[in-house]
Amino acid sequence: MVDHFLLVCYPVQSHINPLLNLACRLVHAGAYVTFSTSIAAHKRMFPASSMLDFPFNDPHISHLIYFPYSDGYDDGNNETKQQFNYFLETRDMCRCSLRSIASAPSIDGRPAITFIIYTIMIPWVSEVAAELGLPMALLWTQPATLFSIYYHYFHGGYKELIASNCDDQSYSLQLPGVSPISIRDLPSYLVPKPELDKFKEVFLGLFEEMFLNERTTAGFHEIVLVNSFHDLEHGVFTSIDAKLNVIPIGPLLPSSSIDGGILPENIVKETNDVKAYMEFLNRWPANSVIYLSFGSISFMKKEQNTEFSLALRDSGRPYLWVVRGAKEGVEVNENVEKGTGLLISWCSQVDVLSHSAVGCFVTHCGWNSTLESIASGVPMIGLPQWSDQSTNVELVDGTWKNGVKAKVGEDGVLRSSELCRCLETVMGDGERGNEIRENAKMWKEKASMSVMDGGSSDLNLINFIKDIAKST
Ligand code: UDX
Repeated sequence: MVDHFLLVCYPVQSHINPLLNLACRLVHAGAYVTFSTSIAAHKRMFPASSMLDFPFNDPHISHLIYFPYSDGYDDGNNETKQQFNYFLETRDMCRCSLRSIASAPSIDGRPAITFIIYTIMIPWVSEVAAELGLPMALLWTQPATLFSIYYHYFHGGYKELIASNCDDQSYSLQLPGVSPISIRDLPSYLVPKPELDKFKEVFLGLFEEMFLNERTTAGFHEIVLVNSFHDLEHGVFTSIDAKLNVIPIGPLLPSSSIDGGILPENIVKETNDVKAYMEFLNRWPANSVIYLSFGSISFMKKEQNTEFSLALRDSGRPYLWVVRGAKEGVEVNENVEKGTGLLISWCSQVDVLSHSAVGCFVTHCGWNSTLESIASGVPMIGLPQWSDQSTNVELVDGTWKNGVKAKVGEDGVLRSSELCRCLETVMGDGERGNEIRENAKMWKEKASMSVMDGGSSDLNLINFIKDIAKST
C-alpha cells in the first residue's frame, strides 16, 4: 500500500520551508502527501512568502496537495492579535479542523491518511493522531543540540540545576554529547530574560507539553526527524537515548540546489525584483559581498539599524541588506548612492547565499538561516535575538568554527566598531578568517554529501519510509 502522509505545519516561514522540502522528498519516494497549514498563514505571514504560491499542481509533484486547516484566524480581522495569543486561542478550532482531514476516507481521490508528521509548537496534533490511532513523527525544526537541551531540562534534572544557578550566567552545564554550555547561551525560554518574559510562559509551556507528553516523546512512541545532519551534531546523535528515535534527515532547504530540481527555482513570490538583487550580486567578485538578514520574525530596533549603517559605510565592502518593515534608523549612506550597497525588504535567501559573490552572512542565527548558510559554505557573524539563536551562535563560533559571535553592549546593541571588527575577522586575510572560510567550505561539502544519494540523511529518510511501509 502507498503511504499517505499528512504534514501539519505551524504557520511560520521557518517551519513551512523545511516541511515543504520534506513533502517533496516523500513524494519523490513515491508517497502521497497532504500538506496542511492554517488558511490564514498566507495572510498573516509576510506577503512575499505566501506558500499558496507553491505549485501544488505541478505534474512533477502531483502526489502533493495542499489542504488547509482552519484556526479561526481565517476572516482576516486579526491583524492586531499578538502572535503568541494564537497558541491559546486556536487549539480547539485547529484540532477539530484537523480531525476531519485526518479521518477522511479519501482526500481529493487519494487514499486515507496513514501517517502524520508535524512541526514543533502544535502539540495538539499528537492528540488528534492518538485519538485516530494514527502513527506520527515530529519534525524538529531546530538543531538536535536543542532537542537534547530541552529533553534534559524536562527529564534529566537540569531544570533544577539551572534554577539554582541562574544568578551566575557563566555557570557551565555539561549535557551528554554537547560541548559545555553556559547558562547565558541556553535557549532564551530557559533563562530569565526580562525583555522576553511575556513570550516565555507560552513557549516554554508548549515545549513542556511536547516533552512531557505521554503519547509522544516522553512515552517514546514517536519518531523525531531532525533538520540537521549526522556529521554536524554527531555527539548528540550518538549519545542521545536510542529509544527516543531521533533521526537526522537534513539539511531540508527551500531550494532547487540540493534536491535536483524537484522544487521550483524559488518558492517565494518576490515583492522585490529578483533580477535586481541577483544582478547586483553578479557585479561583484567571489566572497566580497556582506549579506545582512534576520529571518522572518525579528525586527531590528532603530539604534541597531543606525549602527549597521555606520559599519557598512566604514567597512567599504559591497552589501545586500534585507530590512523588513519600517526602515527606522537605516541611513542610506554613500555606498548605496555609489551603487555598492542595496537595501531590499525580502529575497530568496537560498539563492542569495548560494551566489559566489556572498562572502559573509550577518544573521540572527535562526536555525534555517544557519543551516542554509552552512549548506552554502558562507561564514557567519551571529547576532542572536531569542529562542534557540543564542545556542546556535555558540555552535557556529565555538564548535563548527565557521563564523563568529558578535559582542553586543549592555543595551543589547551591536556597535558599528564591533561589527567592523567581526567583518575584518571573517572576511579579512588574517589566520582566523582563513580558518573560518576553510571550515565553512568543509561543512558545505559535508552538508551536500549527507543529502546526496546514499548520504547519511538520504539513507535515514529512505529507511524511515521503508519502516513505515512495513508497519502500515
Ligand atoms: C524562527 C526562529 O527565529 C528561529 O530561531 C527558529 O530556529 C525557527 O523559527 P526565523 O526567525 O524566521 O525563525 O528564522 P529562520 O529559522 O532563519 O527562518 C527564516 C526563513 O525565511 C529561512 O528559511 C530564510 O531562507 C527565509 N528568508 C528570510 C527568506 O527567504 N528571505 C528573507 O529575506 C529572509
